[in-house]
Amino acid sequence: MSDKIRKHKKIIVTSALPYANGPIHLGHIAGAYLPADIFVRYHRLMGNDIVYICGSDEHGVPITLRAEVEGITPQEVVDKYHEMNKKSFYRFGISFDNFSRTSLPIHYETSQDFFLDIYKKGILKTKTETHFFCSNCNRFLADRFVEGKCPNCGSVGARGDQCENCGTWLDPAKLIEPHCKICGSVPVAKETMHWYIPLSNFQKQLEDWILPKKGWKDNVVNFCKGWFEQGLEDRAVTRDLYWGIPVPLEGSEGKVLYVWFDAPIGYISSTKEWAQNQGNPELWKEYWCNPETKLYHFIGKDNIVFHAIFFPVILMAYGGYNLPENVIANEFLTLESRKISTSQDYAVWLNDYLNMFPPDSLRYCLASISPETKDADFSWHDFQSRNNNELADILGNFINRTLVFIDKYFEAKIPEPHNLSQQDIEIIREVENQLDVLANNIETFQIKAGVNTLMDIARKANKYFNDSEPWVTLKHDRVKCASTLYICSQIIKTLALGMSPYLPFTMEKVIHFLDIKEEFETKNWEEIKNTPLLPGKTINKPDILFYKIEDEVIQNEVDKLESIVNKTDDSDKRAQSLKEVNKLEEITIEDFRKLDLRIAEVKSISRVPKTDKLYRLEVDDGDDIRSIITGLADYYEPEELNGKSIVLLANLKPAKIRGEFSNGMLLAAEKDGKLALLTTDNFMEPGSKIT
Ligand code: MF3
Ligand code: ZN
Repeated sequence: MSDKIRKHKKIIVTSALPYANGPIHLGHIAGAYLPADIFVRYHRLMGNDIVYICGSDEHGVPITLRAEVEGITPQEVVDKYHEMNKKSFYRFGISFDNFSRTSLPIHYETSQDFFLDIYKKGILKTKTETHFFCSNCNRFLADRFVEGKCPNCGSVGARGDQCENCGTWLDPAKLIEPHCKICGSVPVAKETMHWYIPLSNFQKQLEDWILPKKGWKDNVVNFCKGWFEQGLEDRAVTRDLYWGIPVPLEGSEGKVLYVWFDAPIGYISSTKEWAQNQGNPELWKEYWCNPETKLYHFIGKDNIVFHAIFFPVILMAYGGYNLPENVIANEFLTLESRKISTSQDYAVWLNDYLNMFPPDSLRYCLASISPETKDADFSWHDFQSRNNNELADILGNFINRTLVFIDKYFEAKIPEPHNLSQQDIEIIREVENQLDVLANNIETFQIKAGVNTLMDIARKANKYFNDSEPWVTLKHDRVKCASTLYICSQIIKTLALGMSPYLPFTMEKVIHFLDIKEEFETKNWEEIKNTPLLPGKTINKPDILFYKIEDEVIQNEVDKLESIVNKTDDSDKRAQSLKEVNKLEEITIEDFRKLDLRIAEVKSISRVPKTDKLYRLEVDDGDDIRSIITGLADYYEPEELNGKSIVLLANLKPAKIRGEFSNGMLLAAEKDGKLALLTTDNFMEPGSKIT
């Protein structure tokens, strides 16, 4: 490694610190980790001086929620998921130089130093607001820990931040009958003071920095422009929470740094930890403060504001740090066309995947569908077909048939080329060009385009092999046959180089087959590219690179997801109907008496023109004939209704339905798509009152 010719480009790459409150799933991977890892591995091969930083985000409300769900302490939550996630990243080949955690002392020190520095500079301001406090739990309640009746739709169990029933964005102070979600007691409103960073003071500086940027993705720039237009506001950097980094000021007991204040600083403390492990504790500064070094953040799109606005402001306020060269935000991944939901377990967990399939097949598939400019969908059948038809049939097949041929007919030695044909020269040139295209793809974060470039090489190579028919020339033109195999082996080497960032496990095997491990360890991209395999070099025995995945195996995965969907659909329905029943408030008998409920008799039925669900009924209400528009056409034939005695809500305000007036409503029972009209046990005259 050490005698690599460095290009002296210094780069630091970060991937969003995952919350240590649950396992990693494919959505995380496609967004912030795989694209970064491919970028990093490429730059390492280029010989650049790059560190790749990550770690667990161990603070904030998400951790405390998980602890409550699992009935364990927040510390136990983060210990469990930190280890678990670190391991699955490793198994998947995400090659962090350091995977730290935000509960380490070095991170506490660094975050508190940032806070104090900005505080001492007089940048922070304080504000006092009223928040709910639960005296029983002895803590301030974060918005989502307050529950009550929604002031908008009346449904119970609305959370302080949002009512799940009607979707209204709430203020916990507006909830009716608020109570503490944890213990149920009634919280009191209490004043609390917090420190805020006035982002507006930095808006000009941010605009001057971001707006002229070239090479930033549209999604990031457009988000920023949107915020600039609205005008940036004050953001609290502290919280009343029992879990987090204490605010390092006198009289701030019970207050911690806001998780989005400390988490991005975690990138810095993780780099410090890395530097210590390198035996050079000051080395981190080279990557954060040397203006020559370029900083890249890879994130999911929900984190844009924190990486393009909030964290840069913290860095500006502190001073002496580089701002990111680019913030690469990916869109979301859906799963079999549905939103991934960790709470409903609708996800493919990385560990589960890795217990079934090889890492490279997923790396390849996710890179091929990378959600760079729009959301992308992962489906198991697509995964299977990419593995079987592309990796196995094209890439694997080409490499395997070439190496097996050399092993078998050329004594496992790279053959000697003679009188290369136009076609031979052509393919070599094309492959070299494609390798440059690939380099450009990766440097400009076009991970998906890079896959296509590589597959293009493999396809051409396969075709070249077929067209050259070495199994035929072997018998009558061994010289030509040797040339063909020589060319193919050079292409394999090029593929091994270009594919390494994408398929590190497979390419390690290929590098072993070609016996060029040392070259990969000591030379950089350009040098490897320009060093052909020498004729006569012995290769190792080849082996299959990709196995096909059977239909049954894939169907099993599809079924697993479907059963989760069915389960959640059922429980959604149950929760929904429970909510609907529950959401009605208690009423008095006086309330009930306001309803004019009476018996009416159906006199005639006609369809409402241009609709397929609606009937117009003429009914006798005892006093008069009136018309009612009802949605019964799916459930009753007209003749079934004729003469029927029904229950009518007679004093309902008339309403216009599809251009026709409906004067009242008839009562029916409804459940699970079935419907039945209410009628009486014995015949009652129209106009009879329901009491
Ligand atoms: N934990 C956050 C999330 O999963 C990401 C934190 S990124 C950092 O959404 F910058 F704050 F570290
Ligand atoms: Zn409580």
